[in-house]
Amino acid sequence: PAVTGLKQLAPFPMGAAVNVSLLKNRPAYEQTVATEYNSLTGENAMKFGSLHPSQTTYTWSDADYLVTYAQQHNARVHGHTLVWYKSLPSWVTNFQGDSAAWENLMKTHIQTVVAHFKGKVASWDVVNEAFEDNGTLRNSVWRQHLGPDFIARAFQYAHEADPAALLFYNDYGHEWGPTKRTAILNLVNGLKNRGIPIHGIGLQMHTNINRADTNLATAISTAGQTGLKVHIAELDIALNPDKKAGLTFTPELAAAQKAKYKAIVQAFKALPAAQRFGITTWNVGDADTWIRGFCSCSDWPLPFDDNYQRKPAYDGIVEAL
Ligand code: XIL
Repeated sequence: PAVTGLKQLAPFPMGAAVNVSLLKNRPAYEQTVATEYNSLTGENAMKFGSLHPSQTTYTWSDADYLVTYAQQHNARVHGHTLVWYKSLPSWVTNFQGDSAAWENLMKTHIQTVVAHFKGKVASWDVVNEAFEDNGTLRNSVWRQHLGPDFIARAFQYAHEADPAALLFYNDYGHEWGPTKRTAILNLVNGLKNRGIPIHGIGLQMHTNINRADTNLATAISTAGQTGLKVHIAELDIALNPDKKAGLTFTPELAAAQKAKYKAIVQAFKALPAAQRFGITTWNVGDADTWIRGFCSCSDWPLPFDDNYQRKPAYDGIVEAL
């Protein structure tokens, strides 16, 4: 008998960031993706460095594989990401040109990628992480060469290439407090008020068990007040934010993580149905989490364990749905 997964239980799409090589080569991983999720994001496959390694070369194979896989499994694909300060190939970071040449570079990349996936990728993180942690605009190559309004123009270029695509601004830190959150919300509200085609806001939600439920709920409800669709876009809940050596995954930590997953899903469920774009975890199981590499520490941030078995965190999600 078919196993019921999150996608059958949730009243909104449930997704995961997927590593294409694991999808091809690790059967337990692929089975979990197939059973549980109806929204897939490429963990790296649609980033600038992956798709556009030299000025005249585009490499579509991994991203196309993900799209075909999603079509075969009745999952949507959320595109991540067109304009980011990271994952840039050296031809971009070393690019010599005036502001018109940079404009053309950004526009060409956006429009080539969005056009390639037109009708197959229905939503995009157009701009990712434009703000510093303190809420000032990051001094990325895009900002340096194009000025702060590169963000608005990126949305316009994406919209021209696929007028039907839902376009998101994605960032982290909404749950830290008002400083960065207000900067992000002011940006998206400003774009909306100017008539720039923006349809959603992505809250990455790389969080941890020490973050108070009220901060998590405020992050989600204030995003909803923009009137845009809300995507919990990169959810994971770290158990070892202090990077302690020798930490083990105890039942106490598992229970705290379960409660935190439940609180986030409950807060998301409280949004108006039309604004609930979905919840996407960043990776599938603890064995493939990016956090272990990022923190060089032990951690278990996801709803599936190292063997792709459901954890208490999974039950916390289900209890909230
Ligand atoms: C991370 C990937 O998980 C890693 O494999 C890669 O080496 C670096 O990027 N915020 C984002 C994601 O928007 O694109 C990042 O993904 C994690 C943080």
